[in-house]
Amino acid sequence: MAAKPQSPASNFQSVLQESRRFKPSAAFAKAAHIGSEASYKRLYRESIQTPEKFWGRMAKQELVWFRPFKKVLEWKEPFAKWFVGGKLNLSVNCLDRHLGTPTANKAALIWEGEPAADGKPGEERVFTYRQLHREVCRFANVLKRNGLKPGDRAILYLPMVPEAAIAMLACARVGVIHSVVFGGFSAQSVADRIQDCGAKVVITADGGFRRGGIVPLKKNVDDALAIQDATGALLSRTIEKVIVLRRTGHEVAFNSPRDVWWHEELGSVSSDCPPEKMDSESPLFILYTSGSTGKPKGILHTTAGYLLGAKLTTRYVFDLKDTDVYWCTADVGWVTGHSYVVYGPLANGATSLMYEGAPNWPEPDRFWRIIAKYAVSILYTAPTAIRAFMKWGDQWPAQHDLSSLRLLGSVGEPINPEAWMWYHKVIGKKRCPIVDTWWQTETGSILISPLPGVTSTKPGSATLPFFGILPEVVDDQGRAVPRNTGGKLVIRKPWPSMLRGLWGDAERFKQVYWSELKGSYFTGDGCRQDTDGYFWIVGRIDDVLNVAGHRIGTAEVESALVSHPSVAESAVVGRPDDLKGQALVAFVTLKTGVVAQPRLREELRQHVAKEIGPVAKPDDIRFAESLPKTRSGKIMRRLLKQVAAGAEIKGDTTTLEDLSVLSKLGSAED
Ligand code: WTA
Repeated sequence: MAAKPQSPASNFQSVLQESRRFKPSAAFAKAAHIGSEASYKRLYRESIQTPEKFWGRMAKQELVWFRPFKKVLEWKEPFAKWFVGGKLNLSVNCLDRHLGTPTANKAALIWEGEPAADGKPGEERVFTYRQLHREVCRFANVLKRNGLKPGDRAILYLPMVPEAAIAMLACARVGVIHSVVFGGFSAQSVADRIQDCGAKVVITADGGFRRGGIVPLKKNVDDALAIQDATGALLSRTIEKVIVLRRTGHEVAFNSPRDVWWHEELGSVSSDCPPEKMDSESPLFILYTSGSTGKPKGILHTTAGYLLGAKLTTRYVFDLKDTDVYWCTADVGWVTGHSYVVYGPLANGATSLMYEGAPNWPEPDRFWRIIAKYAVSILYTAPTAIRAFMKWGDQWPAQHDLSSLRLLGSVGEPINPEAWMWYHKVIGKKRCPIVDTWWQTETGSILISPLPGVTSTKPGSATLPFFGILPEVVDDQGRAVPRNTGGKLVIRKPWPSMLRGLWGDAERFKQVYWSELKGSYFTGDGCRQDTDGYFWIVGRIDDVLNVAGHRIGTAEVESALVSHPSVAESAVVGRPDDLKGQALVAFVTLKTGVVAQPRLREELRQHVAKEIGPVAKPDDIRFAESLPKTRSGKIMRRLLKQVAAGAEIKGDTTTLEDLSVLSKLGSAED
C-alpha cells in the first residue's frame, strides 16, 4: 500500500484495512520514561491547552541558557519566534554541558568505516564527549581563522565520517549557518545551493568511500565552483575558502590559497574556543529539499526551538536511556541525520553510532554485523532499507546476535504492514516495540509517532501526535473530515522546531505551506484518521515523490531532462515500486531530428545524475512522440501515472487534446 501514488484529489478512499495491534509489554512500559496512557494524555492535554506554559517549562528544564528567554512564543502567522530574548549555544547544549558530569568520558560518537574493497574490515573510531568537545572547539577555531563570522553560511559536502558531525557542531559554536549537501548530489546541485545561500566556505573531503569505490567530492566541488550562469558569471562567486578533509588519500587538485587542508589548519589553532552567545532565533541551518515546483527549497531552522524539539523527541520517542547504544542509519545530508544522528542524541548525552557505508557492502549482513559488534539497543532506519533486507533474505540477520536490540524505529515514508511485520518478527524477535515516526525536513523533529511504553501500535500507522502537535485531516476547504476518510494532513498550531521560512524567499514560504488551507501548516501529505484517532499517512499529494525515502520533486527532474540538448519536453511521474516505494518514470519527447536510441536513454539518466545526483535518476525513460495534454496545454499526469503503472487508462479523457498520443505511450520499448 505504501507505494500507491495518490491522486491529487484529497478525498481518496484508503484501501488499507489493518486490525492487528501490538501493546507494549508491561516490562517495557514499567521502565519507560513515559509508561502509561494517563501520563501521555495528561502531558498532551497540557501541551495543547496551555502550550506556552508547557513549552516554557520544557525549554527551561532541558536547555542550558546564557540568558533566559522573556517570552515563550510570538506568533504572527506564518512567522513564529520561540523563546524570545533568550541566548544560548547549541554546541554547549550538546557538549559542554556534559563535561562536568560522568557523561564526559562516555562515547558520544562511535563510528564504523566502510570495509575496504579487498574485504579488510573498516576502521573504527570512538569519541568521548570530552574528545568530541575538543575536536569541535579546534575546528571552530579553524572556521574563525578562515574568516567566518556569525551569520555566514558554510556548505558541508562530506562523507558519513565523524568530521561531518564535528563540522556541524563547530559551525553552531561560532554561529555559522551550515547547509549540509548530501554527498550523493552532483556538482550542479552544490553550485545551486552555494548560490542560493551565498555561502562563503565549502567544507568537503578529497573523497568518500562507497561500496568499494570513491565518490570524488573534492572534484565535484571544483566543478561546482567553475559553473557559470547564462551571463558567464560564476554561481559560486561568494566562496572564499574550501576546507578539505583527507579521507580517501587519493590525489586531488589543490588550488591554493583558496583550498586548505583540514589537518594542516588544525596545526595552527588551539582547543579553546569560547562559544558564541546566540539568539534563540539565530539561524542554525539551511537544508535544501524538493518542492513540487522549480528549484529546491532552503528550509530554515533556528536554534532554541529546533534543539528543544530534537532533544525531547529523541528522549521520549526512542525512550532513550543512558545505557543505550543508539543507531540512526540516516546520512547527515538529510534532516534525519541532523536531528537524530547528531543534535538530538548528543543533547541527551547518548551514544550515537555512525556508519559510513551501504547496508549491503560487502555483504547484505552489514547492519546486523554492526548491531552485534556494538550491542546496538535502538535501531532507527527507513522502510526502503527494511524492504531491501526482506528481499535479501532472513539468513543474513539470522547469522548475528541481535539480542541487544530493544527498540526499532522507521522513518521517511509509509511503512507497509508486511515490512512492519518482518521488522517486528525477524529483527525485533517480537520483543521490540516499533516506532513509526512521521515528520519532515520542515518540521525539524518527529510530530506523529507512538511512544513506545504507551501506545499500542498498528502496523502501518504512525499513530498519535507528540506533545504540542495538533494534526488534523481536512478537505479542500479546510474542514475536518469524518474518521476513516482521506484528506490533507495539516498542523493546526505552531511548534518549537517548525521551519522559520525558506532562505531568502518569504513569499514562497507563505504560498507553499500557509496558503493552501487558511490558518494551518500544510504538510503536502495525504492522511486518514481511524476510529481510534490513529493517523495513517498515505504519502504525498503534490508532485513530490518519495523514492527510497528521498523526496524528489518531479519538476526538478523534468527541468534536468529538458536541459539536455536532445530533449524537447518531459513529464516525470511515480510508479509503485516494491523496494523503493516509488520509482521515477520519465516520459520524454525528443527534438525534431533526434533519433530515440536506447543509448540515449542511458545518456539521459546520466545527465540527470549530473544535474541533480544519482538519487534522482529515472528508473525508466519512455520516448514519446508527444505528451498527453489538456486543451489548455497542461500535461495530464493522471494518465501518465496510469500508463507508468501499467494500468488500463481509466477515467475521463474527454479533455485530452489528442487521444492518439495515449496509445503510443503504452510500451516501455522504443
Ligand atoms: C514522508 C524525512 C509516512 C512524508 C523525515 C513526508 C512518512 C516526507 C513518514 C518528508 C512516515 C516521512 N510515514 N510517510 N513515518 N516519515 N514520511 O523531508 O511524505 O525527507 O512528507 O523528511 O516523507 O520527507 P523528508
